[in-house]
Amino acid sequence: TGLVVAMDGPSGSGKSSVSRGVARALGLRYLDTGAMYRAMTWWMVRQGVDLADPAAIAARCGEPVIVSGTDPDAPAIHVDGVDVGGPIREAEVTGAVSAVAAVPEVRVRLVALQREVIGAGGIVVEGRDIGSVVCPDAPVKIYLTASAEARARRRSAELAGTTVEAQQEAMARRDTLDSTRKTDPLSMADGAVELDTTALSLDEVIAEVLRLVKE
Ligand code: ADP
Ligand code: CDP
Repeated sequence: TGLVVAMDGPSGSGKSSVSRGVARALGLRYLDTGAMYRAMTWWMVRQGVDLADPAAIAARCGEPVIVSGTDPDAPAIHVDGVDVGGPIREAEVTGAVSAVAAVPEVRVRLVALQREVIGAGGIVVEGRDIGSVVCPDAPVKIYLTASAEARARRRSAELAGTTVEAQQEAMARRDTLDSTRKTDPLSMADGAVELDTTALSLDEVIAEVLRLVKE
């Protein structure tokens, strides 16, 4: 019965900021599925699992207890009771997450967890495969894009100590891995509306999504 808004797109396209703004405006919950893949990756790194070995990742991906909050004003993520909101944004996890997310067993487990959180709806869900795999029946599907340069500029404004060029290179590498993996690659879902945010402000993008929801 509750509304589901599916928000997909490459990194830095604005998924998190837009999803939180939309959820806040509509009084909906918010789920960041990228944070769950990052949390899984953080745990694998910490356990010393060989990330070049998909079988090793598959064998252990059932172990960590990953709990996601759904408050758009206070996104929270815990692994085995540890708050990992900070460490999952660090370069080590960001550089490794696409390899972990490409392992089919990881996706099966996290998609099941995501569907548990989504439940009866009333939520904005952001990721790479929400409109295509996690919630193919979502009534509103948005595919956010922006130029590679705009995305890199936005992300380097958030992170200290990186240049736009280095950021653009790291993002391009991750986008390639995410859109060419065999299982549930990043792509525009059937029925999704593409929104190019390159020349828009955050408020303009949120307003446009709210307009699409009301349609
Ligand atoms: P993603 O979740 O897709 O990686 P984020 O929302 O984390 O993207 O990052 C986008 C960053 O860019 C935020 O700091 C946001 O404030 C900024 N930004 C600037 N302009 C826009 C826009 N038009 N739409 C969305 N975000 C924007
Ligand atoms: O914030 P950013 O867009 O840079 O990344 P994220 O949303 O935190 O996602 C991190 C990584 O998780 C992505 O690069 C994908 O490899 C993976 N991911 C995925 O495979 N499927 C999702 N639904 C969400 C994220």
